Amino acid sequence: MKDASRRPPSPRGRGSGGGGSATPPPPDIENLTEQEAAAELEQLAREIAHHDRLYHQKDAPEITDAEYDALHRRNAALEARFPELIRADSPSQRIGEAPEAGFAKLRHRVPMLSLDNAMNAEEFADFCARARRFVGLPTDAPLAFVAEPKIDGLSINLTYEQGRFVSGATRGNGTEGEDVTANLRTISAIPDRLKGQAPALIEIRGEVFMTKADFLKMNEAQAAAGQKVFANPRNAAAGSLRQLDPRITAGRPLSMFAYAQGESSEPVADTHWHYLQRLREWGFQVNPLSRLLKSEADAAAFQAEMALQRSHLGYDIDGVVYKLDDLALERRLGFVGRAPRWAIAWKFPAEQAMTELRGIHIQVGRTGALTPVARLEPVNVGGVLVQNATLHNEDEIARKDIRIGDTVVLQRAGDVIPQIVSVVTDQRPKGAKPFVFPEVCPVCGSHAVRPPGEAVRRCTGGLICEAQRVERLIHFVSRPAFDIDGLGEKTIREFYEEGWLHSPADLFRLPAREAEIAQREGWGEVSARNLSRAIEARRRIPLDRFVYALGIRRIGATNARLLARHYGSFANWRAEMVAASQAGSEARSELDNIVGIGPAIAEELADFFGEERNLELLDELAAELTIEDAVRAQTTDSEIGGKTVVFTGTMETMTRPEAKARAEELGAKVTDSVSKKTDLVVVGADAGSKARKAIELGVRTISETEWRQLAGLE
Ligand code: IVH
Repeated sequence: MKDASRRPPSPRGRGSGGGGSATPPPPDIENLTEQEAAAELEQLAREIAHHDRLYHQKDAPEITDAEYDALHRRNAALEARFPELIRADSPSQRIGEAPEAGFAKLRHRVPMLSLDNAMNAEEFADFCARARRFVGLPTDAPLAFVAEPKIDGLSINLTYEQGRFVSGATRGNGTEGEDVTANLRTISAIPDRLKGQAPALIEIRGEVFMTKADFLKMNEAQAAAGQKVFANPRNAAAGSLRQLDPRITAGRPLSMFAYAQGESSEPVADTHWHYLQRLREWGFQVNPLSRLLKSEADAAAFQAEMALQRSHLGYDIDGVVYKLDDLALERRLGFVGRAPRWAIAWKFPAEQAMTELRGIHIQVGRTGALTPVARLEPVNVGGVLVQNATLHNEDEIARKDIRIGDTVVLQRAGDVIPQIVSVVTDQRPKGAKPFVFPEVCPVCGSHAVRPPGEAVRRCTGGLICEAQRVERLIHFVSRPAFDIDGLGEKTIREFYEEGWLHSPADLFRLPAREAEIAQREGWGEVSARNLSRAIEARRRIPLDRFVYALGIRRIGATNARLLARHYGSFANWRAEMVAASQAGSEARSELDNIVGIGPAIAEELADFFGEERNLELLDELAAELTIEDAVRAQTTDSEIGGKTVVFTGTMETMTRPEAKARAEELGAKVTDSVSKKTDLVVVGADAGSKARKAIELGVRTISETEWRQLAGLE
């Protein structure tokens, strides 16, 4: 949690007294142009991230808490005035309002399912035909539906016992959700007691949402108070409901429409339309736009009507839900997979808009993949302001010939991230150049490479790149690597957040923090001591595990073992790899020719060792460790490497499995039968048909003594 309000007091005890800097007051927000605001927001995002890093990872803040809070407030105020400029990397967006500690889980008595979608009239007709067929109705039998606008909020399940609201949960995974009872009690649209007659036990389902007007008003108030500003009403509703403190939820303008039933101790209606009536009588709000429709044709007309009304509604909808009205029919139809056969969400067609492509930003994923993101002149696409769109990869940009400055056609389909459909080439500005994809990582500056045949370009600075660090550390301590007891993913994340783990070498500095670790929640002296011991125990590490732990792409446990056996010692491996990072070098061709390695893997190693900072990291790490030599195999000077070998007859100085293992160690493939593909047959005593066959086929045969010489055993 890095937002201003949750920031712990400064470790140096600096209070909120002024920082003494004599910078002039920032310009009045009302007078800023959009461009100036955008520039300032970018600057703020960078500046706040910088201070977060200093504070959380380096324990060395440069500014006071008050100055830090002022940066957040300025950011929030700018975003409130220019909501279309809210950046994906804005400090206000970085933390979801996910609570620090989780909510208790609540199981739904009847699972909360999802809905299948129909994207057009044909798919809706298919849905109707399937339903008729399933229950054996004639193909022209009329079906009555209840239509309900599909609001984009979050669904909840409310349980009433003896007419009293006892508990409520979010949908969660459909089987169990989060217990948000206390928060739901603060929503005025949720009655505490049902009016009139109600079953002893009943579950009622509906959608919690925020109207567009409430959303805007709330964002203004949030900004004025220096609090988080939300990107859209759906996020705002979800964030408001998932608060640990119900007093915060109480201050948020949440609405709810009821629309479905879960468990019920007795039947309450024969038709869905009647059920909606009962909901109203009990005191719930039911969407007044809901409509009873007599036929399939009426549904199509309603869909068209709602598509027109959509942008004028006070809340976001992305389609209409059609439910068969007859509940007896509903029961017979049941479910398929996670969706009912008796209801469907008919979505509105994807909405399109044209806008200008301002720039292409390169994001770096946790595994080092570079993903281009379009930065757009903000545009309203079906009621949602869009300013970013995914571009997938390098080839996609080239295929669509997308250039900065182009006018592009954007499309949003439901919740899916907006996409660029095409470029309006006749509006291309003069001099717009094809986009050149960067060959260095924008996060860490390491070179980014794209292996032949792959779509994705990747950063080679895995261990030094901020975007990939945690994943790499988790790999580093995993079982086939350093296998440090008590240091799993959770602990790595915990210590990383604390700012203790930057590079793998830092793992070996954790024992120095033993006392501090012992004080942490969930730890204690014993577990902290055990952790220190587990770490100390791994200061001695076999070379192959060490190589594997580095997480170089394509270097799994098997390749790590091949490399370790081939190069023997860490010092030798390191020197040879540095030499091999030069294309065309002798070391490179040696690496290429190790059986089982090959050029693609050699390339990955060359990329890794071609990066100066990887070497620094390697040496820093090696200084903490004793890296054990591997038993060296002489594959390259052995004639046996790469050969297909057959052993036949009885060997006198070694067993057959021993001979086989030795041959494989030298890079040979050992098979059982002789064929034209066999390179060498080692003939022991009393050899029979295999030796004969070898002679017939002209395959070279050698004696056990000759084998021992070839295998370097003599
Ligand atoms: S009925 C099995 N009715 O859509 C019945 N859902 O894709 C499932 N939704 O999670 C729910 N408006 O969040 C139903 N009038 C409506 C709805 C609605 C919105 C959402 C709901 C649900 C999702 C299903």
